[in-house]
Amino acid sequence: MYGLVNMAIEDLVTINFGADKWAAVKKKAGVEVDRFNVNEGYPDCITYGLVKAASEVLELPVEKILFAFGEFWVLHTAQKGYGDMLSAAGRDLPEFLEYLPTFHVRVALMFPHLQPPRFECSDREANKITMHYYSHRAGLSVFVEGLLHGVAKLYNTPASVEQTKFKDKGDDHDEFLVCWGDAIKK
Ligand code: HEM
Repeated sequence: MYGLVNMAIEDLVTINFGADKWAAVKKKAGVEVDRFNVNEGYPDCITYGLVKAASEVLELPVEKILFAFGEFWVLHTAQKGYGDMLSAAGRDLPEFLEYLPTFHVRVALMFPHLQPPRFECSDREANKITMHYYSHRAGLSVFVEGLLHGVAKLYNTPASVEQTKFKDKGDDHDEFLVCWGDAIKK
């Protein structure tokens, strides 16, 4: 994945736990790169290795790290670096979600070798929508859950996100039900 992703993990760890913990994470992951380059491609195993090492160093489950990383990606990385793209993608939560399937087409203009996820929407009702997530990468569904929560927070819209299909349990892709307003699942 592009270095932007690994740099965002660095920011997540450094801002919340300090530079020493990030040094320990990098060491545990066997990463010798001093600073990741935003525009350079790195093997996916580096990103997965950093998440696993962060889980060990911070003594938090991998799922907690991935969820937090999803929220952080939207509310920190994307908002700070690509705020205009985010605000152009929708005036409210449902508009943004309906735009998500084409979102990375624009991202790919900046990152030409991007291997983006694929999103689809279905079953849109007044206060809910089903989001379908496809990727050739494994193990990122909790990251997506965190991303969707991050988007809801971006629009100050209380929302529930429930995973309804699981690729790692035999479904052909991951699926999420996003509800807001009076459709929120308690
Ligand atoms: C301006 C904001 C964004 C930028 C610049 C961006 C950029 C990227 C980049 C560089 C990658 C790594 C893929 C690669 O290097 O091949 C990636 C992956 C990913 N992005 Fe985005 N992204 C943005 C917003 C979002 C949003 C809002 C979502 C969903 C709500 C999202 C979902 C994902 C997911 C799930 C992946 C993991 C890759 C996979 O599933 O295969 N991104 N994105």
